[in-house]
Amino acid sequence: MRKLSGVIILTLIKTSSPEETARIGKILGTLLRVGDVVCLSGGLGAGKTRFTQGLACGIGVSGPVTSPTFTIINEYQGRLPLYHMDVYRLNDPLEMEDLGYEDYFYSHGVTVVEWAERVAKLLPVERLDVIINRSPEGEEFRTITFTPCGEGPAVLVKELMKLVCARN
Ligand SMILES: Nc1ncnc2c1ncn2[C@@H]1O[C@H](COP(=O)(O)OP(=O)(O)O)[C@@H](O)[C@H]1O
Ligand SMILES: [Mg+2]
Repeated sequence: MRKLSGVIILTLIKTSSPEETARIGKILGTLLRVGDVVCLSGGLGAGKTRFTQGLACGIGVSGPVTSPTFTIINEYQGRLPLYHMDVYRLNDPLEMEDLGYEDYFYSHGVTVVEWAERVAKLLPVERLDVIINRSPEGEEFRTITFTPCGEGPAVLVKELMKLVCARN
């Protein structure tokens, strides 16, 4: 069980290249545990898939991780199963039922959802929200905002920040 004293509201990290965004994802990936759900938001081309590629690497997935835009879900095996969803093309959140989304969210693996805001009502209460935004500083700049929902995700963000700061 992750335990935390105090409350984390949100944490913001700035990146200045796709590699840097992937590196943050990778560090997060090393910390993820069974049942963790990471919900990614941000516009087209924000870097959600790039972030997930790093995350997958941190989980120990070898081989390419590609956008599941058309397949909706891709599954990978690292030290844990990774379920990578992209719900952009769902016409109705109810289509999530057909996918059996609960089997993924409440599973023995880690789930990453791109465009999570489109299925907001179906997301588990305990999750880590990650918003990636372009920054006016330049074409390759992004801000990544982490908002933990629940105590487990709050500890996760705290651990993430420790590692990110230690490696800078
Ligand atoms: N700091 C950055 N972080 C992530 N991606 C970046 C960054 N700067 C430029 N990019 C580019 O933005 C695009 C992000 O694509 P992708 O990860 O597929 O976005 P999304 O999944 O959010 O639609 C890639 O072409 C990547 O090279
Ligand atoms: Mg994507």
